[in-house]
Amino acid sequence: MIGGGIVGAATAYELHRAGVDVVLLEARRLGDGTSGNSTAKVTSLHGLTYRDFDPDTARVYGQANEWGLARVAELASELGIDCALRRKAAYTYAEGASDLSKVEEEVEAARAAGLPASFTTESDLPWEIAGAVRFDDQVEFQPVDYILGLAAELDREHPRVYERTRATAVSGGVVSTDTGFSVRAERVVVATQLPFLDRGLFFARTHIERSYALSLRIRGAVPEGMYLSTESPAHTLRAIPWGGEELLLVGGESHDMTRTKDRGGFAALENWARERFEVQSFEHRWGAHDFIAEDSLPYVGRLTPTSDRVLTATAMRKWGYALGTASAAILAETVQGRHHPWGDTFDSWRRPPLKTLPKALLHNAEDGVAFFGDRLRRGHEVDDLGPGQGRVIRSGVGQKAVHRDGAGVLHAVSARCTHLGCIVRWNEGEASWDCPCHGSRFEPDGTVLAGPATRPLEAREPPKEEPMPPRGVKKGTKRARQYEHVKKSEKQAGRSEQRAEEIAARTVNKEKARSGESRTASRSSVKDISSGKRGGKRSGSGPGGRTREQLYNDAKKLGIAGRSSMNKKQLLAAVNRKKGS
Ligand SMILES: Cc1cc2nc3c(=O)[nH]c(=O)nc-3n(C[C@H](O)[C@H](O)[C@H](O)COP(=O)(O)OP(=O)(O)OC[C@H]3O[C@@H](n4cnc5c(N)ncnc54)[C@H](O)[C@@H]3O)c2cc1C
Ligand code: FES
Repeated sequence: MIGGGIVGAATAYELHRAGVDVVLLEARRLGDGTSGNSTAKVTSLHGLTYRDFDPDTARVYGQANEWGLARVAELASELGIDCALRRKAAYTYAEGASDLSKVEEEVEAARAAGLPASFTTESDLPWEIAGAVRFDDQVEFQPVDYILGLAAELDREHPRVYERTRATAVSGGVVSTDTGFSVRAERVVVATQLPFLDRGLFFARTHIERSYALSLRIRGAVPEGMYLSTESPAHTLRAIPWGGEELLLVGGESHDMTRTKDRGGFAALENWARERFEVQSFEHRWGAHDFIAEDSLPYVGRLTPTSDRVLTATAMRKWGYALGTASAAILAETVQGRHHPWGDTFDSWRRPPLKTLPKALLHNAEDGVAFFGDRLRRGHEVDDLGPGQGRVIRSGVGQKAVHRDGAGVLHAVSARCTHLGCIVRWNEGEASWDCPCHGSRFEPDGTVLAGPATRPLEAREPPKEEPMPPRGVKKGTKRARQYEHVKKSEKQAGRSEQRAEEIAARTVNKEKARSGESRTASRSSVKDISSGKRGGKRSGSGPGGRTREQLYNDAKKLGIAGRSSMNKKQLLAAVNRKKGS
């Protein structure tokens, strides 16, 4: 079993229980993937879903989820896993009347599929809703504790669970790992969310959505139910027990990782929460992504169409607890050479419905745009990169991913994703390099956070910053004094001579950039170049081609007060105002 999320742990447990000798390999720690970073509702109610399936598919999908939900509750109780499991009602609610008909259709379709759906206009949310689908007796839990509980069963007699062991290849029944050890197995299940092996082309048959979540302390009662809105982007919420009190978990602001960058999901969620609750404090925040097949069903079964020695389960569409547990049952049967009744509906090599083809083609075209478009992007300087920010810059024929850490030091890695070569993007909210094509994520130093990539981003030399002391700063000037002052206080704070000089130089450079004194502008020769000959892009040449220094001199001649603290734009406006008057 490769992957220690809900799918890997549940499948390994089902096999172990059936008497199969299983070894579980996890690249990081158990539950470190999406399973440990979600909203953890174990439910058959998946937003608005059943109305979009044909009746047979809706029935199988509903049955599988009901089984998965019951199985989680059964195993938690039977194995005594302390995972804060609670029974709750789940709701998909429409806030306004415009989505009411969708809610009504969902109730009808879910009932027809044999599910315990009802329509209600009641909720314990502190705002009015137009109507909701309600499923009673659903579950919420602490997924990492549950996964650890299942894994403990595997380890009971012999060590069978290996964390910090990343599988790097599977060939001829041998799984190679990055620890140098390998595992020989009759069957292999790749439960790495998106399979890290490319031969099944699952990356081309899914798209990725990344979402964000917060936990917060509010004044007043935390709603009891588990809620998901019908709006787009949707918002989700539920209570979460934490250190003896009830916090509120809110999530949402999903975006397609290929099409759009993070548009400030955490900030948007905070605003959403503040508008609806009296927030006392925000306690935790996290993000995660999941894969979605164009027909909205998971892929469960063979990794490639021709062999059943390597199996997988992926594309849980952000509903992987009940569905992943049901997938484990299918996989466990397949490993033992038996066919599961739900197997055909979720078959990883089912023929895609024709109507989904345009969407699949569009997503692959978007991957292509990300692949080539990001390569064509023009390079940037890094002088204005603030602490915690990152940027991809040109470096010879390639591109470097450059990040400035909290202490102001630049770090660089190759911007080329080690999966299939797309250019990574900086994710400021979560301080990681994320690949827009198939969701690989890397730490700022290039370490793999999430596959399908299995190798880190290659280390690169960070760009050189201006030598110390900064060029163009003459002895005895205000900037030279500022440089010495910052250097001294950094040394007093315990930094080495070299670090203190770096920080002082950067502070001075940033101040110069902020106030419009660019390096070029501070050279006296710039004054001699007529504005007509200066390139429009020359930094330091202000509107009308005047540098800040020139505008400052104009302001001085005109006797404008406060000129030394003005930036270029403010100086220009003040000069024009004065001339006009
Ligand atoms: C924001 C968000 C909220 C969600 N909320 C819910 C919810 O409320 N209810 C619900 O049912 N579902 C929810 N989901 C979906 C659910 O969390 C996922 O579908 C599910 O966790 C996927 O499980 P997994 O085991 O396939 O993947 P993961 O949990 O990601 O596990 C894969 C594991 O494989 C490991 N791995 C990767 N590559 C390798 C390798 N080469 N070698 C070894 N190990 C490797 C990873 O480290 C990881 O631990 C949510 C998803 C998101 C994004
Ligand atoms: S190219 Fe596939 S995840 Fe980066």
